[in-house]
Amino acid sequence: MLPELIHNLKNEALALISQTKNAKELEDLRISFLGRKGKINQLFAQILQLTNQQEKINFGKSLNEVKQIIQEALANQSKILASDEETTFSWFDPTLPGVKPAQGHLHLLSQAIEEISEIFGQIGFVRVRYPEVDWDWYVFEALNMPPGHPARDEWETFFVEAPKHPQFGEMVLSTHTSNGQVREMERLKAKPPIRMLNLAKCYRRQQDNTHTLMFHQFEGLVIDRNIKIIHLKGVLDYFGQAWFGAGVKSRLRPFHFQFTEPSFEVDFTCLNCQGKGCRSCKSGWLEIGGAGMVHPKVLEAGGIDSRQFRGFAFGCGVERLLMLRHQIPNIRLFYENDLRFLEQF
Ligand code: DAH
Repeated sequence: MLPELIHNLKNEALALISQTKNAKELEDLRISFLGRKGKINQLFAQILQLTNQQEKINFGKSLNEVKQIIQEALANQSKILASDEETTFSWFDPTLPGVKPAQGHLHLLSQAIEEISEIFGQIGFVRVRYPEVDWDWYVFEALNMPPGHPARDEWETFFVEAPKHPQFGEMVLSTHTSNGQVREMERLKAKPPIRMLNLAKCYRRQQDNTHTLMFHQFEGLVIDRNIKIIHLKGVLDYFGQAWFGAGVKSRLRPFHFQFTEPSFEVDFTCLNCQGKGCRSCKSGWLEIGGAGMVHPKVLEAGGIDSRQFRGFAFGCGVERLLMLRHQIPNIRLFYENDLRFLEQF
């Protein structure tokens, strides 16, 4: 009877020990088998019940053997658990700095488009988009450039091979965002106030370090009663400071556009030299776009009474603004998708 108990105890212990998964489980088993009140000691206590001397000796001997076997099994399992832990975690060094996963971000131009929309949004301009493929009427004629007018030569236009519109003429790729002016007047049923920001792609047959066939412009248009040049100046100063930094001033230089009267070219003071004149700007001023007071004929083309309402407008290239801000030497960099360039922004 008793040898069988010992045998079963041994098997039970070995089975349980081999199933342990960590040091704590192993220690619990050690206590339950070899502890002071453990199963082995409980069996030792039963020796007293034996009367036969030889039996006592045999029993004590085999119990000691089992005790030793269990001790060895515990030691073995302890080694196995330790080496498991090592193989599982040896690669993990919590003191090493982490590796940052590569993270993408918006393209430089998309960031600028968001930023420009936000800057003008702050002062109530509503962002709109009008067709990039548009009719001659919106791109030229409604802007006081009738067919054959020499001012059109300024915009090297792509014409689309499509039937002419009976009213609006030929189909073109819009050369500027000014096509949005009359479209916006129509959208608002010729009812000012109008505060539009039209930001879109434009197309011109021109290619060099500062021109690509496709580029981005934004167009501001404000129409209301009593709008004056000073309002235009205020908006441009506000934008210049928001985009380039505090202290930047704008300058309106007399110019000619068919769709504005008077017309200006817009310069900002160069941040590089604080307007003193440096290698990149020469004069202390950076030219950033065109502007003016909306020509009465343009207002009329949009159905607005030019005796009651006036407006100002301005247009500016997004790539150009970025090139000036970051001193980017070549506009093609925007479109080559070279990560070494894009990652810098
Ligand atoms: N559309 C002109 C261009 O592409 C820029 C421009 C000039 C826009 C004067 C305007 C403006 O709104 O008033 O060169």
